[in-house]
Amino acid sequence: MFENILFETDGPIATLTVNRPEKLNAINNATVEEIDQLLDQIEKAFDLRVLILAGAGEKAFVAGADIHELDRRDRLNGRLETRRRQEVYTRIEELGIPSIAAINGWALGSGLELAMACTLRISSSKARLGQPEVKLGIIPGAGGTQRLPKLIGMGRAMELILTGEPVNADQALAIGLVNRVVEPDQLMIEVRSLATMLASRPKLALQYAKEAILRFAEGSLSQGLAHESYLHTLSCGTEDKKEGVKSFMEKRDPHFQGR
Ligand code: COA
Repeated sequence: MFENILFETDGPIATLTVNRPEKLNAINNATVEEIDQLLDQIEKAFDLRVLILAGAGEKAFVAGADIHELDRRDRLNGRLETRRRQEVYTRIEELGIPSIAAINGWALGSGLELAMACTLRISSSKARLGQPEVKLGIIPGAGGTQRLPKLIGMGRAMELILTGEPVNADQALAIGLVNRVVEPDQLMIEVRSLATMLASRPKLALQYAKEAILRFAEGSLSQGLAHESYLHTLSCGTEDKKEGVKSFMEKRDPHFQGR
């Protein structure tokens, strides 16, 4: 059904794989549209609890925007294409379920921006991550100048974006760019294990927590606190809240329904 991505589900866990390994999974405009269409399906699938994003092959998660398309990008379509990419990546960030980027190799430019739109990032020890756009005479255009400083702080974001040089997995872990680093053969095992844990948590509580934390990233403490309180109150009205508290009192494991 799709040409540039693969999609599979395993119970509550969905996996989207960017599938252009011969181009190191560089994301062209068609791939962006396919991801957008897939998000329509994922949003409607009540039983899905976690989305994993991965790159096909051994070498790359995503090695950036497709440079052949960049070659044609000018002032007119540059704005259209970056706005579109930002829009689709923001859909991933704001999805009602958490997402995990499984970073197996190169995560560059638009690829790192895609990983940063995910809720969590797990990296193979052989991965390299960076925003090399300045080396092409451009700047990041799919969220890099905004999400990178929020994740790792302004000073480090300045260094990564202005030098264009990548960091290795251990450096990425040290600066908070990724959550965990594991050996390459353990990557998907670790990602699935975390996904399984998240899938067992109450869906709405995760959704509200994620939304409140994203609101923090937008700025004002007072607005963030008000929104947190509002979402906390919503979570108090869920079936899963009743079950979570009841199961604790009854000293048993909870059975969450996602309602
Ligand atoms: N867009 C389009 N094609 C890309 C690509 C991209 N972003 N990144 C890699 N490819 C293609 C290469 O052109 C090559 O295709 P070919 O075999 O038809 O020539 C293939 O993927 C393999 O890449 P190659 O450069 O041979 O692999 P490598 O292991 O020597 O180097 C990288 C890996 C990631 C260092 C290198 O591919 C690279 O620098 N890519 C561009 C990264 C970038 O600037 N991304 C940001 C764009 S905004």
